[in-house]
Parts: sequence; C-alpha cells; structure tokens
Amino acid sequence: MTAILQLSDAHIVPKGALVSGRLETSAALARLVGRITTIRDQIGPIDAVLVSGDLSDDGSPESYVRFKSLLAPLDLPVHVIPGNHDNRTAMRHAFVDLLPVSGPLNWACRVGDITMIGLDTLVEGQGHGTLSGETLAFLETALAQANKTPVLLALHHPPFQSGMRFMDAIGLTNRAAFRDVVAAYGGALRIVCGHIHTMMVAEIAGHIALSAPAPCSTFAYDRRANAPVGYFTQEDGCLLHRWEGEFQSIRIGPAAGSGPFPF
Ligand SMILES: [Fe+2]
Repeated sequence: MTAILQLSDAHIVPKGALVSGRLETSAALARLVGRITTIRDQIGPIDAVLVSGDLSDDGSPESYVRFKSLLAPLDLPVHVIPGNHDNRTAMRHAFVDLLPVSGPLNWACRVGDITMIGLDTLVEGQGHGTLSGETLAFLETALAQANKTPVLLALHHPPFQSGMRFMDAIGLTNRAAFRDVVAAYGGALRIVCGHIHTMMVAEIAGHIALSAPAPCSTFAYDRRANAPVGYFTQEDGCLLHRWEGEFQSIRIGPAAGSGPFPF
C-alpha cells in the first residue's frame, strides 16, 4: 500500500503580503495542514506529499522558505513540480536535494509500490504551460523505466480542457503530444494536476486524470462565454491518492462539519 497526499496551488507569499490584495494563503494552508494532522490516524499512513505547482504566488525565495515551514508539521518527504506562478531558479534552490541542477524540473522516483513522475510545464512569465521536447522525451523514458508498474504522473497544467474559459486560455498548449506519450503505457497510470483550483476528473487515452482543489481559493464552474473572470475565497482542500492493487483518489475537504450523528 502506498499513499500520496497531493497539495496544489498554495500560492504562498512573503509574510505580510496578501494574494490579490485579499487572500491569506499561508493561513489557509496552515488550516489544511492542521486538518490533515487531525484526521491522520483515520486516513492511514501517508508515504509522501506531492505538490502540483504554484507553491508560491510571486516566485520569491522567501515564499518557498515559508511554504516549506508550513508543511513541516506533516513531517513527510515532499516532492514538487513548478506551476505558472513559480520561479524555476528559486524553486531549484529551495529544493536542492530533489530537483535537477539544470534544465526543466522533471523527476522520477520510486515511493513505496509506485513510480512517481513530475513534469515541468512552466513557461516563465506566462500563464499557459507547455511540455518541451526535452520534457516529453523525459516522460517517454521514465514510463519505459517504470516498466508497467503503477505510476502517479504529475504536471501543473491539466492535460484536458476544463470548460472554464479564462483558465483554458492559459492551459497546456500541447495536450495531444502528452496524450500520445501516455497512450502507450501498459500499466496503471493516474495523471494528476492542479492549476484550475477545482477537482475535476477526465480521461486521457484510457487513463484517469484528476485536477486537485486548492487550499486557498477556487474558480466557478461557469461555462458561459461571458463568465466573470476571477476567484472565489472558498478553501477547498486537497487529494489523497492510494495504491493498493488499484488506485483510489479522495478529496480531503478543509473542514469536517459537525458529527457523526446516528442515522
Ligand atoms: Fe494556481
């Protein structure tokens, strides 16, 4: 059994700053970490944390230090990939033991019974994401080396359209190339992402792809052409992925509500 906690889009800023002049993202992440700590004996052992991008909102070195200290109470190995708000250099320095010293921030590692693969979709200074030729080649090699073992594959930008137009406008530019590479994989493969601050399930070449909610904010599922552009302050939790002969993924919300009450 292997369990990976996926956090996404924490958007941490230096102390004293607010995101979009409004969001206390550090407080929101601290609340979620507290919630996970509270229910940890219920949800069972967790092997590692996977952070699917936008650790930082401004890419500053201070924001990464703060992010790491906010996750410290979990006392778990942390694996990270960049999102469009991240800064590759600052992130590389903050996670020097994990990330490659040069080039895209791609990695593959074994965690328990599964292979975890992280891909870099960051186009610095842009909202949209792209898998470079180098990253697609890395994915191809990593999947070949995984050799049909279960794989949890992470990238920040969803490899599917969400229907939320202002987010799709800054989506992954080469989804078809990604689809072509993962289509060939013969083992269990779960694709996980972030970016849209919404939990959504899609299918990519026969594999399940899931986007994670965000601890600090969400977007409305509003498919109208004139949908207002903006975020909502709802704190929306994270995901837990378990492998036990097959994958199971569950959302962990930010609060339990009251109960349990007898039926
Ligand atoms: Fe984000």
